[in-house]
Amino acid sequence: MTQDLTLIRPDDWHLHLRDGAMLQGVLPETARHFARAIIMPNLVPPVVTGAQAAAYRDRILAALPEGSAFQPLMTLYLTESTDPEDVAAAHASGLVKAVKLYPAGATTNSHGGVRDMDKVMPVLEKMAEIGLPLCVHGEVTTPEVDIFDREAVFIDTVLAPLRRRLPELRVVMEHITTEEGVAYAREGGDTLGATITTHHLILNRNHLLVGGIRPHYYCLPVAKRERHRLALRAAATSGTGRFFLGTDSAPHVDAAKETGCGCAGCFTATNTMPLLAQVFEDDGKLHALEAFTSLNGPAFYGLPVNDTKLRLVRHDTPQTWPEKIYTEAGPVTVFNPGFPVHWAVEA
Ligand code: DOR
Ligand code: ZN
Repeated sequence: MTQDLTLIRPDDWHLHLRDGAMLQGVLPETARHFARAIIMPNLVPPVVTGAQAAAYRDRILAALPEGSAFQPLMTLYLTESTDPEDVAAAHASGLVKAVKLYPAGATTNSHGGVRDMDKVMPVLEKMAEIGLPLCVHGEVTTPEVDIFDREAVFIDTVLAPLRRRLPELRVVMEHITTEEGVAYAREGGDTLGATITTHHLILNRNHLLVGGIRPHYYCLPVAKRERHRLALRAAATSGTGRFFLGTDSAPHVDAAKETGCGCAGCFTATNTMPLLAQVFEDDGKLHALEAFTSLNGPAFYGLPVNDTKLRLVRHDTPQTWPEKIYTEAGPVTVFNPGFPVHWAVEA
C-alpha cells in the first residue's frame, strides 16, 4: 500500500477568504498547502470592478504569513451594470483570472448578482473574445423549483442555452453536485470545466439530515442523493481533464452556522488534502489525485503547473487536526468527514 505520496503542489480553483479578521484567521489554512487559489468575490459589498479586485488582492497579500509564496487569483462579481471595458482591462493587466456569475439570490451575498442574462451579454461577449473564463454558480432561484433540482434545471434552462448562444465562452461549472452536472461537463468540449468540492465527495443529504440537522454540513448547492455523490467521486477520480478541485471552503463563524437560519458553507481549507488522499485511496485511485488537485486546473486556466511539491504520508493511526480555527471574528468549525483519515501533509 502507498504510504508516501509527493504531488505537484495543489491549487484551489474556488475559495472564499472573506475580509478583515476572518481573512486574517483563515488565509494561513489555505496558504499552508496550496500554491494558488481562485478567490471568490462575494464580499459585502462585492468585488465588482478591477480597482476593487486590486485593493482586495493587496489586503490578501498583506494578510499572508511571513515568507508565504501563496498567490491569490482574483475574480470579479458579475452584475447587470458591469462594464465590459473594465473587465477587459483587469484581464489584460493580469489581475483577474475569471468573472463569477451568481444568479441573484442563489447563495451568500448574491443579491447583487444577475437576474436577466440578456443584460450581461455584452460582458460575456467581451470575455469570449479575450478568453476570460466565466465561473458559474449553477442553480436557478425560481421559488417553484425544488432546491434539490435547482442545478439540473439551471443546466437545461440557463447554461445550455448560454453556451449554444456563445460557444467560444470558457465556462467553469462551479461545485457540481449532481449526475446531470457530471454528464453535462463530460460532454461539454474544451471550453468547459467543472470544479468539485471535497465535501461533496463525502456527503449525501442523509449525512446532513438524518439523526439531527448538521449545520456544518449545510452548503450550497446542497448535498444530494447518494447516487449523485457516487457520480462526483467517479468524475473526480477519473483523471479526466474536465474535472478539478475547487474546495468552496466557505468560512462562517459558529454563531452564524448554529442558529435558527444558518449560513451555507463548509470550511475545508485546513484538512482538504488529507481528506482527498483518503477518498482517492478508498476508491483505489491515488494515482489520479495529482491530476485532480494540481494538473487539470492549470491546464484549463492556461497557467503553468506549480514548481514546488507537497508530500502526504499515510500513518497507521488516524490523524487529527484542529476542531476549530479561532479567528478574531469568532470560531470557525473545521469540516469533520465522520470517518478516520490516515493521511497527513508533511511539513
Ligand atoms: O455553501 C456555500 N457558501 N455556497 C456558496 O455558493 C457560497 C458560500 C459562501 O460564500 O458562504
Ligand atoms: Zn463558493
